[in-house]
Amino acid sequence: MDDLFQNSIGAATRFCAVYGQPIRHSGSPAMHNPALAKLGLDWCYLAFEVSPDALGQAIEGARAMHFAGLNLTVPHKLLAVDLVDALDESAKTWGAVNTICFEVKNDSGDWTPLGQVAGPPSGEVRAKGYNTDADAITLALQQDLGLSLAGQRVLLLGAGGAGRVATLKLAAEGVAELHLVNRTTAKAEQLAGEIAARFPQTKAVVGYPENIAGKIDLLLNATSLGLKPGDSLPLDESQFSLANAPAVFDMIYQPAVTPLLAKAADAGCRTANGLGMLLWQGAKALEIWTGQAAPIDVMRAALESHITSDE
Ligand code: ATR
Repeated sequence: MDDLFQNSIGAATRFCAVYGQPIRHSGSPAMHNPALAKLGLDWCYLAFEVSPDALGQAIEGARAMHFAGLNLTVPHKLLAVDLVDALDESAKTWGAVNTICFEVKNDSGDWTPLGQVAGPPSGEVRAKGYNTDADAITLALQQDLGLSLAGQRVLLLGAGGAGRVATLKLAAEGVAELHLVNRTTAKAEQLAGEIAARFPQTKAVVGYPENIAGKIDLLLNATSLGLKPGDSLPLDESQFSLANAPAVFDMIYQPAVTPLLAKAADAGCRTANGLGMLLWQGAKALEIWTGQAAPIDVMRAALESHITSDE
């Protein structure tokens, strides 16, 4: 509870927020508020349950109230591409927006983050969309599993929003071989086609490696299976044995140890959950809004304590 009172809210306080549905278990406020306090900023980070059909209105509301920025989570990242005024290269490349920075024109006529302008803004405010998720995936894989991806073989479970960005980013990093598995096979096939067109140096195959004993370098779960108690494993163990994956990454960070990660650890794999991804995407967003280096240690510690304190 202490974190709630780290930032004292006043009439000059600037706001950021995350929008999603559901949002109740988001770790973003717990991570950002101590970071804003550490930077000495009179800012506050909130979370709102926003339905997809109200997303446009909710972005307009934040713009009108001079929020510094927004994060967007499930199910808004694709919708937001068409709701912002400008797209950063990152959002164009990955086709999804998880961060919005509100901007105003400075004295030289250049668009500048509203959070970096003193006093109330005058003139037009625009919403610029960024994607900080894709870089966060590779950073987390490097930092938490010591992986450099070029030339590796990866089994990727899930071809939803998160799975799509992960797949494209891994291909952009020069992964040699991607095995794509998804409940709805058509989505994995579409993704494999996209890889073939955009990243022809990566071989993208739909389905598990043909030989059950076939070695891979990384198994990555980007499905939502493991979030809820009683979820089945995202992996079909009759098709692939965890003994053949030296490293397993689960994008889920709550629970901290999903059934997949528990099994993987038992099988002797190096494992990491999605905390690092949440951390790095949030750190980049904070830097975009504030223009200051994110206090990574504060953010990581806050996230870890948020996750362990959640029932
Ligand atoms: P996100 O943006 O978090 O990726 P999403 O786009 O809804 O969310 O994707 C959820 C992923 O989890 C998808 O790969 C989904 O499979 P489908 O594309 O077939 O829907 C997968 N998923 C969700 N529930 C699942 C279940 N019960 N069994 C298998 N896969 C499931």
